Amino acid sequence: MNAPLSVRKTAAALDATRIRKDFPILDLKVNGKPLVFLDNAASSQMPRQVMDRWARYQSSQHANIHRAVHYLSETATAEYEAARRKLQAFINAREEREVIFTSGTTESINLVAHAWGRKFLSAGDEIILTTLEHHSNIVPWQMVADEKGAKIRVVPIFDNGELDLDAYEKLFNSRTRIACFTHVSNALGTINPVREMVAIARKQGVVTLVDGAQAAPHLTVDVQALDCDFYAFSGHKLCGPTGIGVLYGKAALLEAMQPFKGGGDMILSVTFEKTTYAPIPAKFEAGTPPIAAAITLGAAVDYLTDIGMDRIAAHETDLLDYATTEVTRLPGVRIIGTAEKKAAVLSFAVEGVHPHDVGTLLNEDGVAIRTGHHCAQPVMQRFKVPATCRASFAFYNTLAEVDALVASIRRVQKVFG
Ligand code: ALA
Repeated sequence: MNAPLSVRKTAAALDATRIRKDFPILDLKVNGKPLVFLDNAASSQMPRQVMDRWARYQSSQHANIHRAVHYLSETATAEYEAARRKLQAFINAREEREVIFTSGTTESINLVAHAWGRKFLSAGDEIILTTLEHHSNIVPWQMVADEKGAKIRVVPIFDNGELDLDAYEKLFNSRTRIACFTHVSNALGTINPVREMVAIARKQGVVTLVDGAQAAPHLTVDVQALDCDFYAFSGHKLCGPTGIGVLYGKAALLEAMQPFKGGGDMILSVTFEKTTYAPIPAKFEAGTPPIAAAITLGAAVDYLTDIGMDRIAAHETDLLDYATTEVTRLPGVRIIGTAEKKAAVLSFAVEGVHPHDVGTLLNEDGVAIRTGHHCAQPVMQRFKVPATCRASFAFYNTLAEVDALVASIRRVQKVFG
């Protein structure tokens, strides 16, 4: 698997038992059983330190930002901009103005599809996507392609869930304008070789967008090392609140783009004849932004950074390796997505049992997984399944919880004979 062995040798192991004490929700009982929360790819849980940050902001720092000279407005503005710098450091962006706060990955990708796509795409241009994409990295591109008469080309995957890189390279031609691909597949866990994929695109002068929603919580992300033009991710998968996310974009590209939304705070001057726009990042943050959520996300990345993304990755690799071994041992259970490099996701099918029935019975045992198409219907079509069962791990999960998952799958098999 993606065991970064050099990392695992050097990083002191993470103490999940101690860390779990930070997460009040993990003490819940569900159906009389201890909660085993394995739906972290959908949304992760929030530690007390991060909740406290939200409360401290609301109880002593809240006002609207960038708009007034009074104490609270200046305090909130300073905290909001400090959060931007924390996110900048988290992904190693060169400049803080390259970090745009959005409502989440979906909005980040829509922003690029509309604000970049409307300006730079013409009829006959081509957009490269991959079979592994979440709907949020497909549908916005279809919308703008329809509008502009552009064409979508799709990179196929192999049976193990890895991208066909030769096919990817062959899709480029003189009409290719942008290549958009996920860093980690939400449905299968495949880690894509994004650095290599960006380099291939760059050689052809093609812009790249990386969907990092499933990577940012699990891997160290360095946008300068990746050299991608855009990188999108969400706060709520990173122990932060819902309603906040980030779009990283290279400054020159962001400056060249049209605004996405119009409104307050994104302008320099407005008359009925002509409006001029503010410099980035303000140009892309129209209206009152999610101030509390951004500041709280800043606290969430502080929390993760304190633990160490290398230790988080190593612990989750151990969980995934153990779960893969144990689930493989179960007769009648098939793992879907067996790429060599995977992160934190185990998708599987139990022979003769619909995934929703698996999910319902697991829930009776307190085990929370996601079942369905995971907003990645093209992946389901590729594997000819309507849905999968998906267990997804976070750094606060334990090997004992993997045992609980496996025991619960065995019970499903018994119930269904
Ligand atoms: N995109 C999230 C998931 O994979 C919601 O579950």
